[in-house]
Amino acid sequence: MKRYFVTGGAGFIGSAFIESLLSHEPNCSITNFDALTYAGNLENVARFDKSRHSFVHGNIIDKEAVLAHLPQECDAIINFAAESHVDRSIRSAHEFLVTNVIGTQVLLDVARARNVRRVVHISTDEVMGSLPETESSFFTEESELSPNSPYAASKAAAEHLARAAHHTFGLDVVITRCGNNYGPRQFPEKFLPLAITNAIHNESIPVYGDGLNVRDWIYVEDHCRAILAVLENGRSGAVYNIGARNTRRNIEVVESVLNQLQRPKSLIKYVSDRPGHDRRYAIDPSMVENELGWRPLESWESGLTKTINWYKDNPQWVEQVRSGAYRDYYKQQYGTGVEAL
Ligand code: NAD
Ligand code: TYD
Repeated sequence: MKRYFVTGGAGFIGSAFIESLLSHEPNCSITNFDALTYAGNLENVARFDKSRHSFVHGNIIDKEAVLAHLPQECDAIINFAAESHVDRSIRSAHEFLVTNVIGTQVLLDVARARNVRRVVHISTDEVMGSLPETESSFFTEESELSPNSPYAASKAAAEHLARAAHHTFGLDVVITRCGNNYGPRQFPEKFLPLAITNAIHNESIPVYGDGLNVRDWIYVEDHCRAILAVLENGRSGAVYNIGARNTRRNIEVVESVLNQLQRPKSLIKYVSDRPGHDRRYAIDPSMVENELGWRPLESWESGLTKTINWYKDNPQWVEQVRSGAYRDYYKQQYGTGVEAL
């Protein structure tokens, strides 16, 4: 039986990955180690079979706690734990450095000390900075690291540490860099779930700047299948860019949401741009496709329909995360309450 240690598994992608791993490997057991920050949610893991999934409330910067809960003969650590939102990193970078940089080093040290067979470190396309507007430029595994936000800089630092652990100590580390994920259970500080939940409530949708920034979207289950492929067959020491060839301008994203929910375009509200806002992300996923035979299964439209339906069908989840601290964050970020934007 394989034993996995997943960090950040109560968040959006980590919880989707645990679901994929449990169904992909019926005999595995998973320890899900998560600090339950504002983005972590036990409701995201409530559906998992307790005999194969155990949740541990813990912080990856706490080495003793990680050591205490890491399974004996652990097959892999898959590290999703992170502070993940660019706008929050612009307000305060400190937590990003603590979790994303120091926390990653703790996991690498523990993996080495306990002979963990493989570490899969989940990174992001944002470490490669911003592409020119032209449709013909793409991020590849050879693109230089040139992070522009404190979030991206902290993720780039984590990648350097993971790479160094492989180079210096021969630790089996593989890094994945994915674009913008969308799907069920994404915290609505991120653009797409923010647009969906605001549109459902007939509230305005804040669009930064001219709305023409481009992001490369991937349905979360497709990302998780790519991580499974990397976990099983990725080359030790390699970096894999993961993308579904789905680039969209932000304004197109909002229009798709409004169309599907049959809401008027008057809900679009242009607001001040994000400082240092990256203009364009676009991933060339040839390497993960050719080496590992991975392909996305969802189109942008099919993934969006599934995502919107999930948010429509789960009003309790939405209400719970939109209450309390979220309202304070919203006021700070947009200068107004949700309803008043
Ligand atoms: P998320 O914010 O939804 O979840 C992060 C999870 O990590 C939460 O459950 C949180 O409680 C936990 N966490 C935070 N700090 C921790 C700590 N110190 N110790 C233990 N747990 C901690 O994030 P997400 O969108 O699911 O992203 C997961 C990973 O994927 C991150 O590493 C992120 O950088 C990366 N990524 C995300 C996207 C995206 O579009 N969301 C794209 C590419 C890469
Ligand atoms: P986001 O979901 O924060 O992801 P990232 O910045 O990591 O790609 O934002 C996606 C895009 O949407 C990005 O170009 C910023 C933009 N955006 C808005 O226009 N309005 C918003 O309220 C938010 C949160 C993001």
